[in-house]
Amino acid sequence: MISLNIEKTFGFISKASVAAYEAQVKAAQEALENGTGKGNDFLGWLHLPSSISQEHLADLKATAQVMRDNCEVVIVAGIGGSYLGARAVIEALSNSFTWLQEKKTAPVMIYAGHNISEDYLYELTEFLKDKKFGVINISKSGTTTETALAFRLLKKQCEDQRGKEMAKKVIVAITDEKKGAARITADKEGYKSFIIPDNVGGRFSVLTPVGLLPIAIAGFDIEKLVAGAVDMEKACGVNVPFAENPAAQYAATRNELYKSGKKIEILVNFCPKLHYVSEWWKQLYGESEGKENKGIFPAAVDFSTDLHSMGQWIQEGERTIYETVISVEKVDHKLEVPSDEANLDGLNFLAGKRVDEVNKMAELGTQLAHVDGGVPNMRITIEKLDEFNIGQLLYFFEIGCGISGYLLGVNPFNQPGVEAYKKNMFALLNKPGYEEESKAIQARL
Ligand code: PA5
Repeated sequence: MISLNIEKTFGFISKASVAAYEAQVKAAQEALENGTGKGNDFLGWLHLPSSISQEHLADLKATAQVMRDNCEVVIVAGIGGSYLGARAVIEALSNSFTWLQEKKTAPVMIYAGHNISEDYLYELTEFLKDKKFGVINISKSGTTTETALAFRLLKKQCEDQRGKEMAKKVIVAITDEKKGAARITADKEGYKSFIIPDNVGGRFSVLTPVGLLPIAIAGFDIEKLVAGAVDMEKACGVNVPFAENPAAQYAATRNELYKSGKKIEILVNFCPKLHYVSEWWKQLYGESEGKENKGIFPAAVDFSTDLHSMGQWIQEGERTIYETVISVEKVDHKLEVPSDEANLDGLNFLAGKRVDEVNKMAELGTQLAHVDGGVPNMRITIEKLDEFNIGQLLYFFEIGCGISGYLLGVNPFNQPGVEAYKKNMFALLNKPGYEEESKAIQARL
């Protein structure tokens, strides 16, 4: 079971001040549970893990098998909540190098539709030229420009390269049940499709087909992932006492830190496979809380890599930050530091030690140094990187986010600010329907 340790925040905020959140946290939990808070039409994620049926998982696994049987490469086309969850889980669980090998046991997973870079898309289409590839077109609205543009290119290339019939087999849509261009295309072309429930927002959708299908295609056990999330759903339930509920403690502590002037939360890992878990977390908390001119800024670093870049700022920069470390107890593999007769590098004092022991001491040493430097520190400990533990971690952060957003007093389930750039982009590109905005924006240039 994931655990949270907040002891190293207590030099900066008091234990009593965190304990004082109990009633507010309870109110936030009840508002989530009873659907009486802001954004209550987007609470489908709350009891999603425990409501996923075996039939649904079997359907996802069967589709994954079709893709695995027919594709060397699968492109996950989506942006924001429509790709980060899948990428976070797949990268956390994948071997860092086997995708480079000739013989692969699962399709190589590639991501597109999350940028509008011509070079990226050109290089992708070039790379795919001699590959048997398939595409998962993921968009809740079905109209997101980045994703639609990438999908337009990939659909054409897939049909040209593999023929219409095969393309139909290896293109899957994950979108709204009824509306949006992605739904219309899927129905017209006869693609296999999955529905993103209306009441689950993009950044809370990793345990819907949005995350589960790509994860299954990549060869990971989605039943175990969901089981981990179910476990955490129980551990963070509304009836679990405040002191024993890790998500409640996390939400209360980060809000108290924010109140005390710590405006930036840095999510830290000591394992590069967690990089995209941090990206997913950044979106979850940034888009949920950053509104009404308030909200903790979610940042992330990969240590020890970034200790050699951002470490200086964290140690001695402006004291407006705190860290939340994801600490992974057990590694998958064993590797000892070899002894060397010449010892020119002076590393023989480490000979015979596990590399992970060195990493763990870097982690501990960093925590102590940063706390000494004025950076409060929370630690989330997970046993290992497997489906079950990652499932727990995902749900822990989701429920923590729902509670935290309500403590902050915002609607954690909308994202009105995301529209501003789109309006300008469409006006600049003369999209039909944006004539007034086009005139207005031209006058500002
Ligand atoms: O969390 C969100 O709602 C957003 O980040 C969306 O996931 C993102 O904008 C993609 O939207 P869509 O799935 O409609 O293409």
